[in-house]
Amino acid sequence: MFRWKLEDGVELRLLQLRNAPEVFALVDTGRDFLRVWLPWVDNHRDVADTEAFIREALEQFVLGEAIHVGIWCDGVFAGVIGYHRINTENRLGEIGYWLGEQYQGKGIMTRACQAMVAYGFSELKLNRIEIHCALGNTKSRGIPERLGFKEEGILRQAERVHDRFVDNVVYGMVAGEYDFGF
Ligand SMILES: CC(C)(COP(=O)(O)OP(=O)(O)OC[C@H]1O[C@@H](n2cnc3c(N)ncnc32)[C@H](O)[C@@H]1OP(=O)(O)O)[C@@H](O)C(=O)NCCC(=O)NCCS
Repeated sequence: MFRWKLEDGVELRLLQLRNAPEVFALVDTGRDFLRVWLPWVDNHRDVADTEAFIREALEQFVLGEAIHVGIWCDGVFAGVIGYHRINTENRLGEIGYWLGEQYQGKGIMTRACQAMVAYGFSELKLNRIEIHCALGNTKSRGIPERLGFKEEGILRQAERVHDRFVDNVVYGMVAGEYDFGF
């Protein structure tokens, strides 16, 4: 089972069905903030929607297709990070993440992402890790940039965010480039 204590009271744990109420509460109270870049928030109306998401995430975890991990700060649920796509054939994983607005600006996601990258290369034996960010999502782009990912290119209009198509910047890191001193 995935459980990883980082510094400064930050803990990563595989999301379980019992976490649905706290995950839903953070989405529900942070809806206006989160929906700017995460359109799925609008379809997430009830704790049953969170349960359905976690149930599917656990099925994908068992199949080795994805890992969705909750982030707790001093025991309080703060956000989610995960490999929402793992391609075992090509040993490629793609990371996505979100935080409650009040947990931003402390480096929590950069540290969580660093840990997930280390886990990806060392435990999942990935050869390549990608992070896709909307071009205008400066805060999201800051995370791969701080961790030394390479900006590899732009996928034009790759993502629909509400009423518009936005370009995605692709960041990549390959196994030989990874050195976080773990
Ligand atoms: C994307 C998102 C997770 C980024 O959050 P964040 O707080 O900027 O990221 P971190 O937790 O890594 O914190 C970095 C910030 O903390 C600061 N910081 C403080 N202590 C730090 C530390 N020890 N290490 C790194 N950064 C630190 C950094 O300077 C940075 O602030 P800045 O942007 O003002 O320079 C958040 O904005 C979010 O959830 N947005 C909505 C959902 C979303 O867009 N998801 C991504 C879809 S691709």
